[in-house]
Amino acid sequence: MDKMFQDRVVMITGAASGFGALAAEKFAAQGAKLGLSDINGAQLAQVATALRLQGAAVVHDTVDVSDEAQVASHIGNITQAFGTLDVGVNNAGIGHDVTPLQNLSTDDFDRMMNVNAKGVFLCMKYQIPMMQAAGSGAILNVASAAGLVGAGHLSLYAAAKHAVVGMTKAAADENAKRGIRINAICPSFSATPMVDEMADQVGGRAGLSREEALGHIASRIPMGRVSAPDEVVQAMLWICAPDNSFMTGQAIAIDGGLTAI
Ligand SMILES: NC(=O)c1ccc[n+]([C@@H]2O[C@H](COP(=O)([O-])OP(=O)(O)OC[C@H]3O[C@@H](n4cnc5c(N)ncnc54)[C@H](O)[C@@H]3O)[C@@H](O)[C@H]2O)c1
Repeated sequence: MDKMFQDRVVMITGAASGFGALAAEKFAAQGAKLGLSDINGAQLAQVATALRLQGAAVVHDTVDVSDEAQVASHIGNITQAFGTLDVGVNNAGIGHDVTPLQNLSTDDFDRMMNVNAKGVFLCMKYQIPMMQAAGSGAILNVASAAGLVGAGHLSLYAAAKHAVVGMTKAAADENAKRGIRINAICPSFSATPMVDEMADQVGGRAGLSREEALGHIASRIPMGRVSAPDEVVQAMLWICAPDNSFMTGQAIAIDGGLTAI
């Protein structure tokens, strides 16, 4: 039986850790050729090497997604190696201190917008022309539940993720007749290194262990738990799947019910 992404070329940013690293593994298992990038070059090289040992075709580059020249050069390397680009998973992102807005700095604002919003803009800016030339493609921007609703103490993260949802919808409209589907995924808390770090920070201030802090976060989610990264990554694959051909411009919450209440 054919695999879901057999010989499709899939670009994933932030591929050294968390959702990105797991997505790389799952897309490869479904037959994809991979273009992987991350600002953490050493950890990315480990991910790429492990995937090559399992037989995957991988191009990998150390890339800061907020740097236009690096993004453009990486996409050039992918298309030079594989001839095309079928799927873009714009996943790289960062958090900030969990604290009220007035405690954050203009540097926090710039960092959040540069990585979480401009990074997605730059990836789409160079992915879309490749896909328009081919007449097909799928882009998935990794936003957040904080891109759909207010997320107290995460104001700048929420601002940047709302920007991602807005860009996703506008770009989807612009490309709907050109064979390119563009969607966003909006996870709530998932057990990746980003959330562990957040739990350590919040827990540390309140004298709680990581597990206790995670338990507190989970208690706010209707399902009463944070997600396993695989529960988000399976949805990522489905959103990008060639058979999922009529979905575009959507911001899909994978959030245990958080944004439903
Ligand atoms: N984990 C969650 O609960 C959760 C919830 C909602 C949304 N998200 C989003 O999912 C995405 C992935 O996060 P994760 O949870 O896997 O975190 P993670 O920290 O495990 O992975 C993020 C990766 O992005 C990379 N990165 C950071 N800045 C970069 C830059 N400037 N250029 C390129 N790469 C960069 C990091 O090195 C890291 O490998 C992020 O966009 C995050 O905002 C995560």
